[in-house]
Amino acid sequence: MSLGYKIRNFVIISHVDHGKSTLADRLLEKTETILPKKMHDQYLDRMNLEQEKGITIKMHPVQMKYQFAGQSYILNLIDTPGHTDFAYEVSRALAAVEGAILLVDATQGIQAQTITNLKLAQQQNLIILPVINKIDSPQAQIEKAKKELAALLEIDRNSILEISAKEGWGIEEVLEQIILLFPSPKERGQSDPFRCLIFDSQYDSFQGVIAYVRIIGGKVKAGDKIYLLAAQREAEVKEVGYFKPDRQLCAELVAGEIGYLATGIKDPEIVNVGETIILESQLEFSLPQPLPGYHEPLSVVFSSLYVSGDQDFNLLKSSLEKLKLSDPSLTFIPEKREGLGRGFRCGFLGLLHTEITVRRLEEEFGLDLVITFPMVNYSLRLANGEEVKVNSAADWPAQGDIKNIEEPWVELAIVTKADYLGKVMQLLSTLEGSFRRQDYLQEKTYLLTYRVPLREIISGFDDQLKSITQGHASFGFHFTGYCPGDLTKLEVFVAKEKEESLSRIVSRRRAYREAQKMADKLYELLPSQQFAVPIQVQSEGRVIVRRTIKARGKNVTQSLYGGDYTRKKKLLVKQRKGKKKLGKTGKVKIPSKIFFQMLESKN
Ligand code: GTP
Repeated sequence: MSLGYKIRNFVIISHVDHGKSTLADRLLEKTETILPKKMHDQYLDRMNLEQEKGITIKMHPVQMKYQFAGQSYILNLIDTPGHTDFAYEVSRALAAVEGAILLVDATQGIQAQTITNLKLAQQQNLIILPVINKIDSPQAQIEKAKKELAALLEIDRNSILEISAKEGWGIEEVLEQIILLFPSPKERGQSDPFRCLIFDSQYDSFQGVIAYVRIIGGKVKAGDKIYLLAAQREAEVKEVGYFKPDRQLCAELVAGEIGYLATGIKDPEIVNVGETIILESQLEFSLPQPLPGYHEPLSVVFSSLYVSGDQDFNLLKSSLEKLKLSDPSLTFIPEKREGLGRGFRCGFLGLLHTEITVRRLEEEFGLDLVITFPMVNYSLRLANGEEVKVNSAADWPAQGDIKNIEEPWVELAIVTKADYLGKVMQLLSTLEGSFRRQDYLQEKTYLLTYRVPLREIISGFDDQLKSITQGHASFGFHFTGYCPGDLTKLEVFVAKEKEESLSRIVSRRRAYREAQKMADKLYELLPSQQFAVPIQVQSEGRVIVRRTIKARGKNVTQSLYGGDYTRKKKLLVKQRKGKKKLGKTGKVKIPSKIFFQMLESKN
């Protein structure tokens, strides 16, 4: 890199959908990083799934160049996801930068993730640039949003920028403030010993693990021998470069820069985020201190993944390992179950995270998966005195063997507007939780605090909250501890076969209602077969709900015309016999998407 440049490293953070990726698009345009003919909406959201769902799942680094007041600048931006399930992506990105643009949608005002992400940025001592977006919208309440944001940050409201990322209004002012407000990286000591932090990574079949790094000191180039401090592993750098946003190689990376480093390491388990890389030659001196790294996030829900049909377990294993490089919040341990075979018990940060992981495994790695119902981690004391942790319905002991059950509880914080307060409270009253507090934030915005069992908010709560408030409410939660629970297991039989993957743990008080809901949803979602499919939901050894999907009708007599009734009858009898036989032997394949549809809010 030419020394004539000054560097600014920053992230864009906000609540979901407040316009981060659209602002990133405008910055890419204004800095001429992307040619106009190549530009498209949400340019940095490169995964098919991100484009399809219109949400950011991964952080996306990109390097831009800009001239300001006669000086050349390198602007390293990391666009981050807004959904709470991907908060670990945000926290990792924050450790690689000095500044954060805090974006607030003028039509929505401050939301739960605005506050959470701001707190994370403040913990990292980042400089905050407050920006109100969507000022072009007829629903925009610019002054109100500015007042809220000024109160939250305890600043003068005149220091808040007003932009429309969609229309490209105010983008030059944003670039100017990035340069004036955010500091240069502290460590520009290129002569210091080389140290860098891995904040993300990716697998490349030719170059091995590609580590996304922030250079903390010194410099690095292709051919350098490096050493991974935590893994205690050496490697030779194959290539270094920047994100444009595609990888573009360069001669060297120096202190203060963000870029990538191709390690050539083929085993994905060796390279972890939070790792510190040094030069191997430095090992001759005293071992340098590792950088602080990251806290591993705690899994919130667990679900097992198995390959269906004749696909290979090893393919699932290697796919999970490669996926973990770009999604370090994913955890997995191998397990084996009768009827399902060998698979992995996986831990996720939420339901959206579970769904995205399953979709990525299916789409990026060509897997055909069977998954089990997402579930939290329960603590059980058995009749024989033993204490066990259970996070899989298949491991749930017979009810008679359980002495007592404890389940994780969380404190739920909901931000909503006065107009929706009643509806939100009504929804909350259906949960098995308890009300704690109601705080008036500002401008008809309330913060409601509840204590609820975690299991109550992992199945469809997000969708329900969104639908009753038309998106004008958001929530976050944190774990508070374990409390006693009165729970039971529901087992599902489809075409007389037990579908262990559909088993779930529910409140005993609501067991019948939950069983009905499950049977109705399966009835609605399962494709009809050539034979009648009975659906039965059982609790503690008793069938409590049953429904039958009728056989798919096929007019076997269609080819007959005229009035030969005996031939028609013969064919119909044959069809009935065939269906009966199929009904006995028929197996119904349950596609993975059905699990997520069953968890949706439509009750
Ligand atoms: P996540 O990464 O999923 O959190 O979303 P995001 O914050 O990146 O938001 P994104 O840029 O995807 O924008 C969300 C929606 O808001 C899209 O439909 C955008 O077109 C729209 N949007 C973004 N900026 C503006 C704006 O300035 N004005 C208006 N009217 N709409 C905007």
